[in-house]
Amino acid sequence: MIEKERLSETDSIYNYYDGDKILGYLEIRLVDGVLDIMNLFVNEDSRNKKIATSLMNEMIEKEDYNKIMLEVNENNSIALKLYTKLGFKEISMRDRYYGDDNAIIMEKVK
Ligand SMILES: CC(C)(COP(=O)(O)OP(=O)(O)OC[C@H]1O[C@@H](n2cnc3c(N)ncnc32)[C@H](O)[C@@H]1OP(=O)(O)O)[C@@H](O)C(=O)NCCC(=O)NCCS
Repeated sequence: MIEKERLSETDSIYNYYDGDKILGYLEIRLVDGVLDIMNLFVNEDSRNKKIATSLMNEMIEKEDYNKIMLEVNENNSIALKLYTKLGFKEISMRDRYYGDDNAIIMEKVK
């Protein structure tokens, strides 16, 4: 079950529950129609069961945004695959954003 919790005027978190245990979460910030993915995490032993996909889809359905933006490590192939599948497009890159690794900036327009 997914529940949204409001953290502040701009920030919210979607939690994925199994009973009372949180298996994954998606933290977002929404300012002037631009929604930023701040964090997406699924517990290691619960991965590859579509939990991240469900969290993202729930958020996409519920939130009132013009576009969604995110930064992902260029070597995080699993996250890149997930975001590409959800319709995100690479728009630019930030060099050495994660130590030696570059960040890929992705966007999904409504
Ligand atoms: C990235 C992360 C959130 C994905 O969570 P998840 O619940 O396992 O993802 P899903 O089960 O919804 O899988 C989505 C897609 O990712 C890919 N994927 C997931 N696990 C994979 C694995 N072990 N190997 C290869 N591809 C995988 C698949 O393409 C999958 O879609 P498909 O099954 O239809 O092919 C999770 O691995 C995680 O928490 N990683 C550490 C934190 C992180 O990197 N967050 C993203 C920061 S931008």
